[in-house]
Amino acid sequence: MRVVIKDSYQILSVAAAAEVAQAVRAKPNLVLGLATGSSPLGIYQELIRLHRVEGLDFSQVTTFNLDEYVGLAPDHPQSYHAFMREHLFQHINVPAERTHVPVGISEDYVAYCRSYEEQICAAGGIDLQLLGIGRDGHIGFNEPGSSLGSRTRLKTLTAQTIEDNARFFDHPEEVPRFAVTMGVATILDARRVLLVASGKKKAKAIARSVEGPISSMWTASALQLHADTTVFLDHKAARKLTQLEYYHWIEQQAAEVSP
Ligand code: GLP
Repeated sequence: MRVVIKDSYQILSVAAAAEVAQAVRAKPNLVLGLATGSSPLGIYQELIRLHRVEGLDFSQVTTFNLDEYVGLAPDHPQSYHAFMREHLFQHINVPAERTHVPVGISEDYVAYCRSYEEQICAAGGIDLQLLGIGRDGHIGFNEPGSSLGSRTRLKTLTAQTIEDNARFFDHPEEVPRFAVTMGVATILDARRVLLVASGKKKAKAIARSVEGPISSMWTASALQLHADTTVFLDHKAARKLTQLEYYHWIEQQAAEVSP
């Protein structure tokens, strides 16, 4: 895992967005895996700026989102469909038919989840997957205990995740208890992964995931098995890592080799 530590959320977002933009320029029909939550918002803002100012072209890009709350229709203001429209899709030129967000309402979740995996395969697989991380180390909605071999499926959320999400809903009883989420193995299939985390609330999850043993108790730790994962952190999210000096040293050396 490459660990990149920046001085602020703004700076790490711009650095991560630059990697996404470079990937889109190198492969205009990139298959991009997208995440929700507050963590990727800075990346989306920078991608929108690059689209407006530099003409970064998303017209051939295909996107697949990680997850959606069960029970929320795409037009529900707290659905991840709405989140993606509001924070990214409506501001760039990605065609709507190329964007995929799992549905939150289905008559047959097993069949639907299988079809989501098939759609990813039919698109050629995910080239670049963006991730945030939950306080309990989840990626997507792969809560502690999720099989590291899991695929897209229905997942029961933990009490902590429900509590973390409650701020977005008017009443506690409205907070969804289930989600449709890509599995850990689905995420590991992506050719490249960029995970972003900021703030001290994420420090423990980052330390466990980056330097702890690989365990389904911290599903992001499965990324240690992935050959091309970069973790973008601010100092607060990085503060429990034990190898900080080494990570900085690696980045300094890399800059010398290709300034
Ligand atoms: C939700 C999402 C995750 C996200 C996490 C953290 O659980 N399903 O993909 O990483 O929230 O959210 P935030 O970035 O707002 O801390």
